[in-house]
Amino acid sequence: MPLASVQNCPTVPLSNGLQIPVLGLGTSHNGGYSHDAVMYALTECGIRHIDTAKRYGCEAKLGKAVRESGLPRSDLWLTNKLWPGDYGYTAAKKACLDSCLEMGVEYFDLYLMHWPESKTPGGSNREMRAETWRALEELYKEGVCHAIGVSNFLVHHLEQLKEDCTVVPHVNQVEYHPFQQPNHLIQYCRQEGIVFEGYSPLAKGQVFNNPTVLQIAEKHRRTPAQICIRWSIQNGVVTIPKSTKKKRIQENCEVFGFQLEDEDMAALGSLHDGRHVTWDPTNVE
Ligand SMILES: NC(=O)c1ccc[n+]([C@@H]2O[C@H](COP(=O)([O-])OP(=O)(O)OC[C@H]3O[C@@H](n4cnc5c(N)ncnc54)[C@H](OP(=O)(O)O)[C@@H]3O)[C@@H](O)[C@H]2O)c1
Repeated sequence: MPLASVQNCPTVPLSNGLQIPVLGLGTSHNGGYSHDAVMYALTECGIRHIDTAKRYGCEAKLGKAVRESGLPRSDLWLTNKLWPGDYGYTAAKKACLDSCLEMGVEYFDLYLMHWPESKTPGGSNREMRAETWRALEELYKEGVCHAIGVSNFLVHHLEQLKEDCTVVPHVNQVEYHPFQQPNHLIQYCRQEGIVFEGYSPLAKGQVFNNPTVLQIAEKHRRTPAQICIRWSIQNGVVTIPKSTKKKRIQENCEVFGFQLEDEDMAALGSLHDGRHVTWDPTNVE
């Protein structure tokens, strides 16, 4: 019986009216893909939102898990990402269609440009982003992608895209945890109608030894992971923790039956020290 709380997972509206589940499962499975864990998330925990990328190398396996789960495609939210090596109009369209084939799906709920820097020889980063984005706009209009967005884009990247293109990204997926709170970017995204999605909500495990996190966890009789996921969600951020362990996936889903108080939110909000645990797009022109 799936966890009732996750089955009724709250959603966040995109500017085109679609609703993205606020909690998803990350799948950048360093050290190997765990089929059992993904199946468990779908069939036992009620997870309906999966975040992946061509770069993670598990599209075919995830597609198999989705089919094995027996869940109707329309009940699922599948996000995939375009790797910079596939930037450029023709390459981007092909890569998206190839990813659909690889996963055995007809569409993605959300398709993101993974990183603002192009790794395709040719024009400037700005030109490449614009050319690639035009391909995503077409994929969106054709229905291959029900929503399109970007990842690791900062304000200057988004401002350029706004000048160069037509469709405003529906989502920007960026590193977000108590040590990395890009509040100015979040504010900009909200003002522009771009949903802010946070990745690495556990700072890849670095949150677990923080005294403030531990103290709040003890107060609420929750785990440090649950506190950080809850904090992110309570800030209105779409949140995608990753685990390859069933028990931890269940734990990470049990974040809807309690509320952090204002003082807890403020204490966690004061932990920003600017560190990145993944990659830092600051110097990408
Ligand atoms: N767009 C991008 O550029 C980008 C970049 C990074 C990540 N992402 C996405 O965001 C997802 C999550 O980020 P992330 O994987 O970097 O980091 P994360 O979710 O912050 O942390 C994952 C780490 O925490 C461990 N963990 C998970 N739940 C736990 C728990 N309850 N107790 C103890 N340890 C726990 C995991 O180990 P086990 O697996 O062993 O449990 C793993 O080592 C990724 O999988 C990916 O989908 C996107």
